[in-house]
Amino acid sequence: MKTVLAANFLVGAAIPPNFTTSRESSVLIKHMSSLTAENAMKADTIQPSITGTPTEPAALNFAPADTIVAFAQANNIKMRGHTLLWHVTSPQWFFKGCDTDPAGCLPNVRIRLHDYIHNVVVHFGNKLYAWDVVNEVVAQNPASTSPYRTDSPWYQAYLDAKNAGANVEPWDYIEDAFRYADEARASLGLTSADLKLIINDYNTEIAGKRANLIRVINDLRNKGVPLDGVGHQLHIRIDANVADVTAALVDIENLGGLVNQVTELDVNVYDDPQSCGTSGTGCIANYGTFMPNAVEYRQARLYRALYAAFKRPSVQSVTTWGLNDGHTWYNDPSFGRTNFPLLFDSADNPKWAFWAVVDPNIAIP
Ligand code: GLA
Repeated sequence: MKTVLAANFLVGAAIPPNFTTSRESSVLIKHMSSLTAENAMKADTIQPSITGTPTEPAALNFAPADTIVAFAQANNIKMRGHTLLWHVTSPQWFFKGCDTDPAGCLPNVRIRLHDYIHNVVVHFGNKLYAWDVVNEVVAQNPASTSPYRTDSPWYQAYLDAKNAGANVEPWDYIEDAFRYADEARASLGLTSADLKLIINDYNTEIAGKRANLIRVINDLRNKGVPLDGVGHQLHIRIDANVADVTAALVDIENLGGLVNQVTELDVNVYDDPQSCGTSGTGCIANYGTFMPNAVEYRQARLYRALYAAFKRPSVQSVTTWGLNDGHTWYNDPSFGRTNFPLLFDSADNPKWAFWAVVDPNIAIP
């Protein structure tokens, strides 16, 4: 796959460390030109709080990520970094002291964020070609007056500091993260040509969410914040509209000087209400061990159209969130049904979707 698409973009998958030694390793070597650590580069893995003492950071733990990086290097595969700041995986130690002194803690919060980003960016250095500096910082609701996500401990800490008299805006943590990442990059002698600083988010294919994202990007750029591109997660469904995906790429191109990276692509095969994973009614029954042929063909047609749409000079990489249907977040028990979102089946056999992408001449039934 990486060979067929080499002229267009890097082809990637997000993986856990054990894929570098399990059966999956040969598939990765054969087909991938890019890898992402599924969880190993998140802050709650690299520097969690000490167990039982949430306000204190444990020692830096690069080992799981280093396993993936070493595998990538040995096999001439590039890597993305994911992610320096995500509200879901930010340990409590970053915010120590804020509950009692919301303004006084802010300089310390900033120093902790600075030092964490510095340590991590410098550790991986030029072994990565991109960092998701921030993940999911944009508000979902297109009608919201502010384009910034508010349900984040980062937003909350900066807001509390502001309310206690500090001269800061609640969204300034985003600017801080980019500036610290840029400073660390420069300290390595690297530039945006080597290591892209990315803002990553989901639902960028939905116009209202994307409008918020673009407001955030413009805000940052107006302040001179170094930002090199947008990561489009693209956790989409089998009824997705390719024109919407193309619009997401084009709108970012039109801002000028930014790259597009597809960072977490997968195609949920159930096109029914979101609530169907839990308590919904009118839902498609669990497909169980195999999805119906007609569904697999439909998924293949969507994947073919998507990869054709990704062939734009602005698109630097296309990464799926997982490698095979045997290891995907969509098969977490909370989703309630077996899903088949990726290009390889749970035994690593290429699916119709794979062949549809690599050979445009194959007719899909
Ligand atoms: C988000 C995150 C990923 C991953 C997925 C699926 O998209 O960016 O790191 O956790 O959710 O769980």
